[in-house]
Amino acid sequence: MIIFKHQKDLSNFLQKQVNQGATIGFVPTMGALHAGHASLISESKKHCKLTVCSIFVNPTQFNDTADFAKYPKTIESDIALLESLQTEVLYLPEVSDLYPSGTQQLEHYDLGKVADVLEGPSRPGHFQGVCQVVNRLLMAVQPHQLFMGQKDFQQCRVVARLLELTNSSVKLVTCPTLREPSGLAMSSRNMRLSEVAKQKAAAIYQALNYINSSLKPGPIQTLTEEACSILEKAGFKIDYLKVCNYYDLSETDQWNGTDVLVILIAAYIDDVRLIDNMIVSSR
Ligand code: PAF
Repeated sequence: MIIFKHQKDLSNFLQKQVNQGATIGFVPTMGALHAGHASLISESKKHCKLTVCSIFVNPTQFNDTADFAKYPKTIESDIALLESLQTEVLYLPEVSDLYPSGTQQLEHYDLGKVADVLEGPSRPGHFQGVCQVVNRLLMAVQPHQLFMGQKDFQQCRVVARLLELTNSSVKLVTCPTLREPSGLAMSSRNMRLSEVAKQKAAAIYQALNYINSSLKPGPIQTLTEEACSILEKAGFKIDYLKVCNYYDLSETDQWNGTDVLVILIAAYIDDVRLIDNMIVSSR
């Protein structure tokens, strides 16, 4: 695996590969890699000649400085995992490489409704930060395909909007969420949970499944209240639990039996904020 720290060197290298006919798959990450990231790399390797992974804990997407400071950093094991997956390229920039003029007064994207709900009000500025860094990374890598995880469902929607706004030809591939045997969605944040909290955290998957399996056409409030009590009994403090339209993420309190819906949860356990979602299966 070749490791690049500077955008200029990365771009020169990749341009040569593309000139020789290579297709580039890109997996952006913030490190603390786990099997979920590994599945994105594997998917990229299936479709593209060359896979580039980036590891960069982007300061502009953290509205909470304590959360930024606590973000797990496991660079040695990350590199070992990427090597075991035969990832061709790792981009490992410093802040100054991606933000040469600093991280203040950055560009603002008109992300519309998909960024205004759910994580939007809970984490002001988060999606602007995600777009600021993803656009910079895309400029540096110029991939053909971009691989992201469904666990961050809303982020995938926001990045799709960014691609639209920037008239990008990059194909966004959303890959399924990988779960622990308990059902807990794999996430770098799980590293901050105690073993006990990890067991309890499986309640998120139970709550999602509960709504998914019980949903019938008609009002859905009773179901969401019951799902909230599954979370609260396990010790979660709920930020949101919402059933939304799959396409525009507008919240719904009724189901007509045909619309595609997605259930989204954000909740805290042990002071760690976890998110997860489930697309309501057709019946
Ligand atoms: O999902 C993440 O890990 C980050 O939000 C991303 C897309 C790498 C941007 O920093």
